[in-house]
Amino acid sequence: MDNTIQPKEHLTTIPHQISGLMDQTAGLDMDQVLKLLAARYPGQVVFSTSFSIEDQVITHAIASNETPITLFTLDTGRLFAETYSVWSSTNDKYHTRVKAYYPDRTLLEKFLNEKGPNAFYESVDNRKECCRIRKVEPLKRALKGQAVWVTGLRAEHSPERKDHALIEWDEGNQIIKYNPLLHWTTLQVREYIDKNDVPYNVLHDRGFVSIGCAPCTRAIKSGEDFRAGRWWWEDASKKECGLHAS
Ligand code: ADX
Ligand code: SF4
Repeated sequence: MDNTIQPKEHLTTIPHQISGLMDQTAGLDMDQVLKLLAARYPGQVVFSTSFSIEDQVITHAIASNETPITLFTLDTGRLFAETYSVWSSTNDKYHTRVKAYYPDRTLLEKFLNEKGPNAFYESVDNRKECCRIRKVEPLKRALKGQAVWVTGLRAEHSPERKDHALIEWDEGNQIIKYNPLLHWTTLQVREYIDKNDVPYNVLHDRGFVSIGCAPCTRAIKSGEDFRAGRWWWEDASKKECGLHAS
């Protein structure tokens, strides 16, 4: 069966495309949906990994099935040493090279020279500008010309994330987004990792749940929200970096 997108389908509206995909993928598991998307949008499906435990599940699913989906990461330059270790062991285990995107040098030099290296602690505006330069702008480049963006978002991580759908339209990035682990529990993620012997970031064993840049992430205590360790000095309401609009 020819699964590729037909010219006429370009004329259908976005809501139709999304609801069509929802219908076609209902009852399929993650591996099957990833394959269907890769066949339907050949060469235009990408997966963004931060090497979180969730992202490692998806990496394993893509790599072990040899599904033709490009893996990329946004290297902010401020990641934990442990994150680079899991990146390296992932490349080794799956015989791959996760593609890296870096911040625009001119933007970063200007920001650092004006504000200093740790300006994100000084104001929310500085923090958002740092995230914009180090993550959001490189993400735009990574998604350019692509049709589907696969992410490791999980609803359990925050109330805002419960607003996402398994397959949704990302208006800001003009792309179809697939969040296969949206409704997975922490236990399911852990079991998948253990069962398949998937490499993961050792920080997850030290109280880190949601892991981003080193200066902006801490471990959480029992009973704290999953995202309490991200930008912990800010109000809960501001704890997003701009990658994922709900
Ligand atoms: S964030 O918006 O707060 O930084 P989070 O760390 O929860 O996001 O990760 C959610 C998903 O966003 C990940 O599963 C991954 O798909 C994507 N993501 C986040 N950070 C990166 C990164 N540095 N590189 C690539 N993808 C990322
Ligand atoms: Fe900058 Fe912190 Fe955002 Fe990383 S998480 S891009 S260091 S503000």
